[in-house]
Amino acid sequence: SQQPAPISSESYSDNLIATLPTREGWSTPLTLFKHCWLRAHVLKNFLLVQDNFKPRSDDIILATHPKCGTTWLKAIAFVITNRSRYAFADHPLLKKNPHKVVTIIEAKFISEHGGDLDYIESLPSPRLLATHLPLSLLPPTVSTVGCRIVYLCREPKDAFTSMWHFDSRIRKGDPISLEKAFTMFCEGCSSFGPFWDHYLQYWKESLARPQEVLFLKYEEIKCDPLMVVRKTASFLGFPFTKEEESAGVDKEVVRLCSFKVLSNLDTNKTGGVERAGMIFIEHSSLFRKGEVGDWANNMSNEMGEKLDMLVEEKFKGSGLKF
Ligand code: A3P
Repeated sequence: SQQPAPISSESYSDNLIATLPTREGWSTPLTLFKHCWLRAHVLKNFLLVQDNFKPRSDDIILATHPKCGTTWLKAIAFVITNRSRYAFADHPLLKKNPHKVVTIIEAKFISEHGGDLDYIESLPSPRLLATHLPLSLLPPTVSTVGCRIVYLCREPKDAFTSMWHFDSRIRKGDPISLEKAFTMFCEGCSSFGPFWDHYLQYWKESLARPQEVLFLKYEEIKCDPLMVVRKTASFLGFPFTKEEESAGVDKEVVRLCSFKVLSNLDTNKTGGVERAGMIFIEHSSLFRKGEVGDWANNMSNEMGEKLDMLVEEKFKGSGLKF
C-alpha cells in the first residue's frame, strides 16, 4: 500500500498549500497559514524547515516585520558582532549587501543560504540569524532556551508605504494600486501579516523577557542611531569599551550602516535576485528614501486617519504606541 508523503516533503507542502486560502493583490499571491499571510514560495520553504530548525541558547535572532528596516538592522548587528574580525576600511559590507551576510531562517529572499537548514546548523555559535516570521511560527524553544531577539518594527503608515513601493517595484507585471494594497493591509493581508499580530507578539515577548528581547522602532534608530547602536551592542553582549568609544568605533558603526553610505555602494546599486520566477528584487529596491513620515507624500489624510484608528484599536491596552 502507498505510504503518505513525509511531512517535510515537497509534495506534502504543495498539497497542503493547495488547500489553504490564497489572495492576490501584492507582488505575489499570499497564502494564509496559521493566521499568517505568507508568499506561497516562502510558505513552501518554511514548511520544509519548520520542524527542523533547532534554536540554540546563544542564538541571536533579528526579527523584523518586512519593510521596517531589516537591511539596516542586519548591517548594524553584523558590524557590531564581527568588529574584532573586520577592519572598517576593508569591511565585507562594502562588497556585500547586508542580506548576504546574515542568513534568514525560513526562506531564501535575497540571502544566500536562507532556508538552508544544513547551512544554518553548520554555523558556529553564537549564530546571527534573521527572520520575518511572527513569533507564533518560530519553535517555542526560542523562548524557553533563552535566544536573544532583537525585534524591529515601524510606524504602520510608513511601513505600509514602504511595502507598497517595494512590492510595486519587484512585481513583474502591472503596478499594484495603492488603494487595493491599503485595503488588504488594513484587513491584515500583507506579507507576514496581520502586522498588528506581528508587532504585538514580539512586544509581549519583550515585556515577558526584557533581558532577552530588545524591542526597537525604526523611528528610534533614525532619531538617535548612536544611542541604539550602543544599546544593541550591550544587549547582544558586545558592549563598546571606553577605549572603543574614545576611538569613535561606535560612531564608525553608525556611519558604515547609514543609508547614505550603504545606498551609495556599487554592490547595493547594482544586481539583484530572482525569486520563484515571480519577483525580481534589485538590491537598490532595498534603499528607497529611508525617511520618517513619507506616508504623507503617498497616502491621503483619510487613509492616514483610517490606519491610525485601526492601530489604536489593535494596540489598545498593550502599551505599544506610535
Ligand atoms: P523606505 O521605503 O521608506 O525608504 P527593509 O530593509 O525591512 O526591507 O526596509 C526597507 C526600508 O528601510 C526602506 O524604507 C529603506 O529605504 C529603509 N532603509 C534601508 N536601509 C536603511 C538604512 N541604512 N538606514 C535607514 N533606512 C534604511
